[in-house]
Amino acid sequence: MGEGIKLPVINGLGRTNRIDNWWSQPMAMGVGLTAALVYTFWRLFLYDADISYALHGSTVMSPIFSPNVLEWDLFGLNTWNHPEWVNAAVLVLWIPFGFRGTCYYMRRVYYRTFFASPTACWVDEPDINKAIGYKGEKRLFIFNNLHRYFLYAAMVILVIKWWDVTHTMHFDSSAHHGYGVSIGTFVMAIEAFLLTMYVTSCHALRHLAGGMLDRWTTGISRVRGRLFGKISVLNRSHGFWFWTSLAFVFLGDLWVLAVAEGRLNDAVLFVI
Ligand code: FES
Repeated sequence: MGEGIKLPVINGLGRTNRIDNWWSQPMAMGVGLTAALVYTFWRLFLYDADISYALHGSTVMSPIFSPNVLEWDLFGLNTWNHPEWVNAAVLVLWIPFGFRGTCYYMRRVYYRTFFASPTACWVDEPDINKAIGYKGEKRLFIFNNLHRYFLYAAMVILVIKWWDVTHTMHFDSSAHHGYGVSIGTFVMAIEAFLLTMYVTSCHALRHLAGGMLDRWTTGISRVRGRLFGKISVLNRSHGFWFWTSLAFVFLGDLWVLAVAEGRLNDAVLFVI
């Protein structure tokens, strides 16, 4: 008991009998995550201009810099004489970083890509991994247990994202006055929608909804059981929502950057 079955893995990093393109998915994921980190660093610390633009009185805010807490009256942040390198993203990004960094799907991704532990089934891992062995979620990885708390914070951010979408819909100029939709509204709404799907397909949310109960038989437990079932359906595509919501953070930022710098034009599609 407990011995497990020893697969005939060929020794040596990346060595395997597999003949398919087992390396392509981890490689694409590694490149994607690295690009996301490099881009975020650039935007936060090297080029934090043009984080929003105005269109006929509406405001379209970059997803990276939303919520722009430095504009908030709350806690006197709007009058705070902050150091040059502090911007809205520096103050807020620890929440999405913490949320994504402790995500159950993300753990799978970084174990495969950055730790090669293992890169894919039936593919050998580096000797150092064998020497260290798997010790579970201990030491630094113990922070993964904070995921549920990051979920609560991410839910607040999510509400603010949708609030930001409403800011793209109120026009107040001589040409347009009232509520309507611009291209920027669509960009921001898609970003908020994808993030909503990522959050609502979360494993920790599923547990919170009904997974923590022993049975779903009567009253509120029955409702929670149904909710558990619905989230379970979304949860099957959690990886898809992870990547699409992540990609749209950067596509949204590029859109805002391009319009704010005059490389692309936003347009009001309709006003009522
Ligand atoms: Fe991925 Fe919660 S498990 S966001």
